[in-house]
Amino acid sequence: MGRRLLFVPLPFQGHINPMFHLASLLHSRGFAITIFHTHFNSPDPDNYPKSYRFIPVPDNLPDTVRSSKDAVALIHALNKSCQASFRDSLGELLSEEEEEEEESVACVIFDAHWYALQAVAKKLGVATMVLRTGNATSFNLFMAFPLLLEKGYLPIQESQLDALVSELPPLRVKDLPRLMITSLESFTELLARGVEQVRTSSGLILNTFDSIESSELDQIKRDLSIPVYPIGPLHKLSTQTQTQSSLLAPDQSCMAWLDSQAPKSVIYVSFGSLAFMDPNELVEIAWGLANSGHPFLWVVRPNLVHGSDRIELPKWFEEETRGRGRVVPWAPQQEVLSHPAVGGFWTHCGWNSILEAICEGVPMLCRPFFGDQTGNARYVNHVWKVGIVLEGKVERGRTERAIKTLIAEREGDEMRERMADLKAKAAQCTMTGGSSYLAIDNLVDSILALQPRS
Ligand code: UDX
Repeated sequence: MGRRLLFVPLPFQGHINPMFHLASLLHSRGFAITIFHTHFNSPDPDNYPKSYRFIPVPDNLPDTVRSSKDAVALIHALNKSCQASFRDSLGELLSEEEEEEEESVACVIFDAHWYALQAVAKKLGVATMVLRTGNATSFNLFMAFPLLLEKGYLPIQESQLDALVSELPPLRVKDLPRLMITSLESFTELLARGVEQVRTSSGLILNTFDSIESSELDQIKRDLSIPVYPIGPLHKLSTQTQTQSSLLAPDQSCMAWLDSQAPKSVIYVSFGSLAFMDPNELVEIAWGLANSGHPFLWVVRPNLVHGSDRIELPKWFEEETRGRGRVVPWAPQQEVLSHPAVGGFWTHCGWNSILEAICEGVPMLCRPFFGDQTGNARYVNHVWKVGIVLEGKVERGRTERAIKTLIAEREGDEMRERMADLKAKAAQCTMTGGSSYLAIDNLVDSILALQPRS
């Protein structure tokens, strides 16, 4: 009899993608796959292998909560509203297993933010593992958060922005999470409850790899008494395409446009799935792109600007940039980053975006918004030295200069060379004997050794 793995992705794009890549990877190692999913941002089963089983977990969220821009409040609401329905769905699946002698459940793999659902699984006697979709640095920060509060680094004081956080070098106070509209209490609770569940799980899986975060991984291993599996970059290890798990339909026509551009000439601009800005920033970005003189591909999500669900770019923008740029509501990002015409990536520094850029060797222009993005930008700029950070308010003159530096100047070329080195390391770690390759073997062995339900 085979073993079945249950997956519970958090229903946001940056969390869905790595969880489905992990499912694909473990499916290829012979596990049967079941996905528990909310109605909110639910996956389309037709996009996945026929053998995957999908079990809906009703979330009963009112529309006002679903459309909240406060992602942390939404995650708490989802934990609360899904707890009982998850208990029922999981309980049903477990009794089916007993009656029908189906593949026995080896464990449930949760996104780190599903704290209430992890507690349910443990109560039902099922082993749990946790996928933290961010990097090792951000998980260290999660664990250190109470200490950072106690020591007064948080809430962030303007006068302390450049001070080093000695507990988490090389982060400075300004690299700690910015919360935009979330309250510090709500964020602190999310992290504390997540870490508590990780500590009592059977293992922590991280979408990172040893050669970019080796000391950060060592620190996690010292602080946790459970096994840690750094098995990224997950998107390079799965057979699933990005389009399969995309919540928005990517505009593929931009690929033909990229074919017509010179090598390494285009700046690709995307701020991920959740970040939003004020209308003034959108205008400054537009001017920066227009004045840089370089070709660009810009993802303008319908809800990219705060308070709007449909964005119209100013008329002058079309005139100023005619024939030199493309604007799309959603792009096939991995394909775009691997296109030879792309020379730079202006990003919000979501962890998936950074890993995807590293794997394709594309240097970055960083405009972090919230959460782990500020810390990620610090690593891109200061540790790996493969990107420029736009500090302070986004302003047309500074962005124009930064684009020119990244695409056409010596500093940009040097970053591209260092990126080529990181790209090679990312490829090596997944090859036979590489660090992620070995960690995956280790993970599979550990899952197979887990005791059936206690
Ligand atoms: C969020 C947080 O912003 C991020 O900091 C955290 O690490 C994960 O959750 P998100 O804003 O979605 O993530 O950014 P990111 O982690 O970069 O994930 C976005 C995903 O959407 C990437 O896989 C990217 O390739 C994909 N994407 C983005 C597209 O497919 N098309 C696009 O046009 C833009």
